[in-house]
Amino acid sequence: MVSIRLENITHIYPGEVVAVRDVSIAFQDKTFNGLLGPSGCGKTTLMKIIAGLLKPTKGRVYFDDQDVTDMSPQKRNIAMVFQFPVVYDMSVYGNIAFPLRVRKIPEDEIRRKVHEVAEMLGIKHLLHVHAAALDASGRQRVAISRALVRSPNAFILDEPFSNIDPESRLVLRAKLKEIQRELKQTMIFVTHDQAEALTLSDKIAVMSEGKIIQYDSPEVIYENPANTFIAYFVGIPAMNLIPASLQGSFLVAGDLRYDVSRYKHLLEPRGTEFILGIRAENIEVSLSEKVDKEWLKMKCSMIESLGALLILHLEGAGIYVKAKVRRIPVSEGDSVWIRLKPEKVKIFDKKSRERII
Ligand SMILES: Nc1ncnc2c1ncn2[C@@H]1O[C@H](COP(=O)(O)OP(=O)(O)OP(=O)(O)O)[C@@H](O)[C@H]1O
Ligand SMILES: [Mg+2]
Repeated sequence: MVSIRLENITHIYPGEVVAVRDVSIAFQDKTFNGLLGPSGCGKTTLMKIIAGLLKPTKGRVYFDDQDVTDMSPQKRNIAMVFQFPVVYDMSVYGNIAFPLRVRKIPEDEIRRKVHEVAEMLGIKHLLHVHAAALDASGRQRVAISRALVRSPNAFILDEPFSNIDPESRLVLRAKLKEIQRELKQTMIFVTHDQAEALTLSDKIAVMSEGKIIQYDSPEVIYENPANTFIAYFVGIPAMNLIPASLQGSFLVAGDLRYDVSRYKHLLEPRGTEFILGIRAENIEVSLSEKVDKEWLKMKCSMIESLGALLILHLEGAGIYVKAKVRRIPVSEGDSVWIRLKPEKVKIFDKKSRERII
C-alpha cells in the first residue's frame, strides 16, 4: 500500500480537449477516498494517469516518495476495476487465480488466496461456475476479487456499481467498506453519486471541469462546501442558495435580513452581491405565528415525505427555500414561520461562487 501524490497534473487529449487541469492532491496511505464529480469532469482520465494507462501531458505522479510518472502499469501494480465488469472466459476460480498464475505463485498458495477473497466477496459457493454466466453484480464481485487477490499498491474502482441493481449495490457498498477496513487498502472510489461518496469515504475529492475543487472529510464537504457548485451537488436536498445584497450591516433577500456586522470587513471589499447558503435541516419551522422579525411567514407550496422526515418547499417573504423537518401536521397551502439558524448560515461570493464564511 502506498500514498499517491499528484503534482500539477494536466491532461490534454488530441483536439485540445483539456480533461485534467493542474491537479495536485495527495491520497493518504490506507484511506478510502471518494472521487466525486459529474460526467465528463475528468475522473477516469485522472485514474488512468495514476494506474499508468495514460501518460499525463504535464505533471508528476509519486507513490510515497518515488516518482512513477514513467513507470509501466505492471510495475505500478495498481488494481483497477471498471464500470463494466470484465471477466475472462473461464470459471470464477480461474478468473480470480489468473493474476497469481501469471506471477507463477505456487498452486496451493493460489488456492488459499482465492478462497480467502471469494469468501470476503460472498462468492465462495460460485467458484466452479463459469464467470460469464453470472449477473452483473456477480461478475463485478469476480472482478473485485481478482483485483484484490494480487495485493496491489492501491485499488481504484471507477464507478463499479453503476450498472448493478440498487439492492446488490447497497450490499456491495457495505462489503467494500468492510474489506477496505480489514485490508487497510489505499482505495480511490470514483462515483458521480454523492450519497455513495458520503457513506463510503474517509475523504472526498470533488472534481469539476478537470479540477479538484475540494478534498476533505464528508462532514466538511457537506457542512462547509468550498463553493456553490459543491453546496448544490452534495446533499439531498441541495443546500438552499439565496441571492442577497449587502445593505449596511445586513445581507438582505426579500424580507430576510441576516446580520453580518461581524463579517463586514470580509464582505465589503468584494462588493454588494452575495449568496446565502443554508442546509434544509438548519431552517427552523413553526406552525404557530411568530411576531419576532427574525421569523418569516411562508407558504408551504409542496411537501415531500421521507417517512419520518418531511421536505417542505416554502415560498414567501421574497424568497424560496426547502426545509427538512421531523414530521409535523402541515398541509400544502398552509402558512408556516421559519428562521434560519444564524450560526449555520454560509456566505458565498456571487461572482467567484467561492465560500467566504
Ligand atoms: N480518448 C479521448 N479522446 C478525446 N477526449 C477524451 C478521451 N477520453 C475522454 N475524453 C474527454 O475528456 C473529458 C474527461 O473525460 P473522462 O472520461 O475522464 O470523464 P469522467 O469524469 O470519467 O466522465 P464519466 O462520469 O462520464 O465517466 C471529457 O470531455 C471527455 O469527452
Ligand atoms: Mg469515467
